[in-house]
Amino acid sequence: MRLNPQNTGEQTGSPQQNAFKQGERSTIDSMNVINNILNKTSFDKSAVIALLSADAPEDVERIRKRAHEILLDECGPEVYCRGLVEFSNHCINDCFYCGIRKSNTAFERYLLTKQDILDAARFCVQAGYGSMVLQSGERRDEAFISFVEEIIFEIKRVSISKTLPEGLGVTVCVGEQTEAAYRRFFRAGAHRYLLRIETTSPGLFAKIHPPQQSLAKRMECLRALKRLGFQVGTGVMIGLPGQSIADLADDVLFFRDRDIDMIGMGPYIVHRQTPMAIHEENITQRKKAFGLALRMIAVVRIVCRDVNIASTTALQAMEPAGRERGLEFGANIIMPQVTPVDVRKNYLLYEGKPCLDENAEQCRGCIEARIRSIGRNIGKDAWGDSRHFRMKEKRKI
Ligand code: 5AD
Repeated sequence: MRLNPQNTGEQTGSPQQNAFKQGERSTIDSMNVINNILNKTSFDKSAVIALLSADAPEDVERIRKRAHEILLDECGPEVYCRGLVEFSNHCINDCFYCGIRKSNTAFERYLLTKQDILDAARFCVQAGYGSMVLQSGERRDEAFISFVEEIIFEIKRVSISKTLPEGLGVTVCVGEQTEAAYRRFFRAGAHRYLLRIETTSPGLFAKIHPPQQSLAKRMECLRALKRLGFQVGTGVMIGLPGQSIADLADDVLFFRDRDIDMIGMGPYIVHRQTPMAIHEENITQRKKAFGLALRMIAVVRIVCRDVNIASTTALQAMEPAGRERGLEFGANIIMPQVTPVDVRKNYLLYEGKPCLDENAEQCRGCIEARIRSIGRNIGKDAWGDSRHFRMKEKRKI
């Protein structure tokens, strides 16, 4: 049905018919609003809010399809895998949402040996993953920094092979560090760094972190990483208590305006041994956060276009096929677990984390089947760098 442009709004039918017409009209109005926005190439905050707020299934599908088109145009159909090794859960921070926060004493702390990490790297090469993510809780002592520096160097050394002449691509994710520490990681051979901003709302950031942590410091770290030449990744949690759609719209515009190369976002999930567990969520809230997380992925793809976007494990913690859904909404990166199985239960940032019992080989089989199940290819033996970063580099030449 088309809306008559001459329509004056005068009502002639019965009250029920008029109510029905109005219902239909508001659906069509929202469809037109969404279509108009999707046809644009630049987006202001109100447009981003409208896309994030869309919840009629046909609107969501339209947004998803547009995100998928842009993904294919800008990045291609490949999904790149980064083997994820969570090499230590020691943490000096006490973030109110995170299960491995310093004050949680209900589990064992660990640091993997270099041998364990190098075995994981060798597995990544064999599996054709092309890249590896080194993730841990935060520490800033010299022993830790030099451990990370050495392990990056060693990973590069052991992974150079026929299939990967430049070795594995190494992404580091060990939190806020000094610029000097970041430089050491870069010089050792890492070329990507992930540091989530968690939220760009100063008020919300302050509510979910202790006063020692600040949004300003995170921003400073992101700037330092960029100056050093890293491909920089950041991201936010979605569905935090007190977070509004306008906050999330600011996050999307922040990714665009700060020229971020990679984005990893996921729904916030309660962990019972944290102070934020007082906001126990119900099933409706969970579903809402999941839907919103998918829309965030699609909207980031639409607004930021050629960036790499991860379909995160937190999506799968909420729904068994959550990561495939993330890929269908515009993500192109997945991080299969390569952490040794015996320590995985001690790296629970949130509850319901999947893949705790499967070894790296089983995770590989599962992820590959998931990627194929939605008709996408796996980008084997390739770093799969963010096209956004590569284009910037080209412009500099
Ligand atoms: N729910 C969802 N994501 C979480 N993270 C930490 N705790 C939680 C939680 N309870 C995310 C943060 C962090 C990343 C490593 O994990 O965004 O940056």
